[in-house]
Amino acid sequence: MDIVLSGIRPTGKLHLGNYFGAMKNFLKMQHENNCYFFIADYHSLTTHPTPADLHGSVKQVLAEYLACGLDPEVATLYIQSDVPEIPELYLLLNMNAYMGELERCTSFKDTIRKQPDNVNAGLLTYPTLMAADILIHRSHKVPVGKDQEQHLEMTRTFANRFNRMYNVEYFPEPVAYNFGEKLVKVPGLDGTGKMGKSEGNGVFLADDPDTIRKKVMKAVSDSGPTEPNQPKPEAIENLFSIMRIVSTPDTYTFFDEKYNTCQVRYGDMKKQLAEDIIKVTTPVREKIEGYLADNAYLRKVARLGAEKARESASKTIKEVRSIIGFKEF
Ligand code: TYM
Repeated sequence: MDIVLSGIRPTGKLHLGNYFGAMKNFLKMQHENNCYFFIADYHSLTTHPTPADLHGSVKQVLAEYLACGLDPEVATLYIQSDVPEIPELYLLLNMNAYMGELERCTSFKDTIRKQPDNVNAGLLTYPTLMAADILIHRSHKVPVGKDQEQHLEMTRTFANRFNRMYNVEYFPEPVAYNFGEKLVKVPGLDGTGKMGKSEGNGVFLADDPDTIRKKVMKAVSDSGPTEPNQPKPEAIENLFSIMRIVSTPDTYTFFDEKYNTCQVRYGDMKKQLAEDIIKVTTPVREKIEGYLADNAYLRKVARLGAEKARESASKTIKEVRSIIGFKEF
């Protein structure tokens, strides 16, 4: 049985990128595998060092996970900061992670460009913390979006290096995983780049239908093609990419043909796109409020998750310590 793990930072509400990039694949796997899903609250401090309401954000994503259909009786659902074995493995992995490779990491370079006044050590060692998250349960498959591919590559490097340095076959080589084979990148509505929590270009699972309609109608487009069968500009390609993910193949083909024959009306296309997004988000949104109101249940879920996660994590840490050579007197 494969060990499957994924996580999301609690820096904002879940958006379609999180859902289709990571969560949906995870949901498909939870019944057939040994699955772990967690809230990466330590990671969120690398970009949000003094969060206004860390607890509230964690609570929000916990409720959102459950609303998506994550079953805490089947999968292990936990909060990263409830499992002290993770920072311990992070510390040990940091000893075998090199400055050069950490500095070359694309997400490090991107983030320091965005926050030049806060180039903290946590940002530099973000990939080792992520490797610790994954390796603490000796995971095999990690359902994530395309943006996490490099982090998974680094995790494999750290795992292999550990095995080599201590001459063991201990950690498996975890892979970034998607059922549809190719990792997904859900674009934003602003015409460029990926959908993000703080980019202002996202549709959130918690958005009500009117908000979704407004956001989609305002999405960047252009005045339409002037010649048949032309490649689509990025903003238009992005709308089609979202449509490919949320709409039926017939709907996608219908608008694609309209585009290729210069008959596309973006107003109609966006209306359809908004309704198809609403179909995906409505069942989730309706459940989020219910979970948010039930603090006792959330507490129970978090406690159960922490207990199950620590059981597996403490076994790994014990073995890792022994492999490295920490011994009792
Ligand atoms: P985060 O919180 O940025 O995103 C959570 C998950 O959502 C995916 N995702 C997307 N997928 C497709 N298109 C998008 N526009 C999009 N935006 C986000 C991400 O790929 C991710 O799978 N470093 C991670 C959190 C993390 C983690 C881990 C994940 C920490 N430790 C261990 C897996 C395993 C992150 O920042 O994700």
